Formats: sequence, C-alpha cells, structure tokens
Amino acid sequence: MSLLITGGAGFIGSHVVRLFVQKYPDYHIINLDALTYAGNLENLKDIEQLPNYTFVKGSITDSSLLDRLFTKHDIKGVIHLAAESHVDRSIKDPMAFIDTNIKGTAVLLSACKTHWKSFEGRRFYQISTDEVFGALGSEGYFTEESPYAPNSPYSASKASADHLVRAYGETYGLPYVISNCSNNYGPNHFPEKLIPLCIHNILEGKELPIYGNGLYTRDWLYVKDHALAIDQVYHQGENAATYLIGGHNEYTNIDLIRLLCDQMDARLNRPQGTAQKQITFVKDRPGHDLRYAIDASKIERSLGWTPAHTFEAGLAATIAWYLENPDWLSQVTSGAYKSYYENQYKSE
Ligand code: NAD
Ligand code: TYD
Repeated sequence: MSLLITGGAGFIGSHVVRLFVQKYPDYHIINLDALTYAGNLENLKDIEQLPNYTFVKGSITDSSLLDRLFTKHDIKGVIHLAAESHVDRSIKDPMAFIDTNIKGTAVLLSACKTHWKSFEGRRFYQISTDEVFGALGSEGYFTEESPYAPNSPYSASKASADHLVRAYGETYGLPYVISNCSNNYGPNHFPEKLIPLCIHNILEGKELPIYGNGLYTRDWLYVKDHALAIDQVYHQGENAATYLIGGHNEYTNIDLIRLLCDQMDARLNRPQGTAQKQITFVKDRPGHDLRYAIDASKIERSLGWTPAHTFEAGLAATIAWYLENPDWLSQVTSGAYKSYYENQYKSE
C-alpha cells in the first residue's frame, strides 16, 4: 500500500518517514515536500536508498501535482505534516502560513475526496498542535474537549486546517483522525526554535534570547516519542477522533535554558555557569501564549502510548546529536539563515 507523508523532509516529518519506512517494509512511503528553508533531505540520508521510499519535491498547494500522484499511486492514507511551523515567522509574514497551512490542507483534502472513489480502508491524518487551544493560565491542562482559541497567525492557520479536516469528515464522510501535540524537541530541529537555536548560539558564543521575563511555559516531548504516537494513532486511532499528545514535561523557558546551559557546559568540559552568561532577556513576542500543557490521558488509556524519554534523557540525546553533527548545523545556518537571524534583535 502507498502512504503519502507530507512535510517528510522537516523536523518531525523526517522522524515519521524513517519510522514508517523501516518498520513497514510492505508500505510504499511517498514523501511530498516543497523543501522550504525548513526542509532538508540530509535528514533522511540514511534511508533514501531503501526500496519502499520515494521522495517527491513539490507543494501541497499544487493540485495538478497531487492529481498526478493520486493517479499514479493507490494512496491509502495521508499523514499530513507539511506546514509553515514557526510562530515568530507567522507574526512577521502570515501569508505563507495561510497559503500552505490552510490552502494547502484544503487542496490535499480535495485530492483525497476526488481520487478516493471509496473511503473504505482510507484515512487522512492531520498532524496538529496544542497551540490551537490558545493559552492556559498557571493551572489546568488542554484536553480533547478544550475549545479552539488560537492567538498567533500560525496557530490560527493550524486551527483552520483542523476545522477543514473535520468538515470534510462531517460533510463528505472522509475518514480522518487529528492529533494535537505539544512542543517537540530532538535531532534535526531547525535552529530557529528555542532549544536548537540556543544550542547553536551556545556553540557560537552568541546571546541566548529569552523573550520577556522567561516565565512562559511549554510542555516538551522528544520527537521520537511523537513519531511513535503518530504510528499508533494512524493505525489504531478511532475515526473522526482527536488525540492530544504531550510529554508531561513542563518547563518555564528560563529554567529550560538554564538546564540546557548546564548540560552543554558539562558536555563541553568547561566550568558550570559559562553558557548561562550568554542568556539575554529580549523584547517579548507579541501575543505570547503564557502556558501550554497537555492532559494526554486519552491516548495513554485508549492506545497505550506513553513517552519513553524523560526530559533530561531526551535533552542529553539532543545535545549529543548536535555535537556529533556539526556539518548539519553549519549547512542549515549558512546563507539566508545568517542574514535573517543576525538582524533579528538589532532594532530592539
Ligand atoms: P518543520 O518546519 O520542521 O517542517 C515542515 C516541512 O514542511 C518542511 O520540510 C517544509 O519543507 C515542508 N513544507 C512547507 N511548506 C510546504 C508546502 N507548501 N508543500 C509541501 N511541503 C511543505 O515543521 P515541524 O516542526 O516538523 O512540524 C511538522 C508538523 O507538526 C506541522 O504541521 C506542525 O504544525 C506540527 N507540529 C509541530 C510541533 C513542533 O513542536 N515542532 C508540535 C505540534 C505539531
Ligand atoms: P518556540 O520554540 O518558537 O515554540 P512555540 O512558540 O511554538 O512554543 O518557542 C518556545 C518558547 O520559547 C516560547 O515561549 C517562545 C520562547 N522563545 C524565546 O524565549 N526565545 C527565542 O529565541 C525563541 C525562538 C522562543
């Protein structure tokens, strides 16, 4: 059977593609990715020669490309990860988010509806974020019943996409499942998100920019645990259901970066406190959500999934990966990255 994974050259997508290609040799995995700044085929170098893997460069907004793909292959399922994914970029330029995250999802759904003559045995899996639920106060957790209340252009575009998926299910009977996950971290994470940005900046001796007072809280999940959850939801999740996926790992940004600094100092064999000197409080993000935290009891109870990595173990594995892959880091931080990030805080 053919399975279309969108955004498979990105951070989470590459871990999902690798897991499915290796675990399911009978599946033909088609990775459709536009290779934006965030997509990188180096992430999949180790599996690209495997016979059950095909890479297609293209956009999910390209309906004729999707028509060709769905005509050529009997695509049984879609795992949809392709997206513009960075909140700060969505604040600077929301339109790319509207285009890929909303229009792209609509084009993909339309291709499924057109080409799937029968919905029997088919499934559309929307990979979404807990950010669609907005911000929590200092108490409580998001659950599958939490109302949508997105605050950033990124989360609003993901919320719109989730609604379109649900609408295709309700209106046309398209079989679907949605999962909303907390913040991921791990190998191959593009160094614009908090953890890989700070790993990169510690190594470069640059400032570690902490927005506002640093007391914003996120619930961190190791990316390989997310990929395993996606496998379980795709194969065992109930039709038309939502699953929340989280790591039981709440950290304020400042506590997280202090821990990261200490682990980096230990790995680099230098006195504790060295990296922490790079911490710099900078202007806050507009509309910054105070706290995200997931109650993952539904997926734990119904599918038996729990995260295997503690945060300390996941963070140590992440740091080790970045230290062992300096070429990856220098490749993705050359060219356009330099001018984008070097000018980031100049005006503040
Ligand atoms: P990423 O930015 O690392 O990767 C996105 C991938 O999508 C890239 O390979 C990019 O080239 C591709 N892409 C972008 N626009 C495209 C288009 N028009 N057509 C085809 N491909 C396109 O993102 P990520 O962090 O791996 O996130 C993957 C998915 O998981 C996203 O849908 C995101 O909303 C969701 N998610 C992410 C997190 C997180 O913490 N990173 C948490 C929950 C949910
Ligand atoms: P980020 O990794 O961008 O993920 P998200 O915004 O999707 O949660 O940011 C994680 C947290 O870290 C968030 O509260 C914003 C904060 N942050 C900083 O303080 N400094 C930074 O340079 C970045 C990128 C994020």
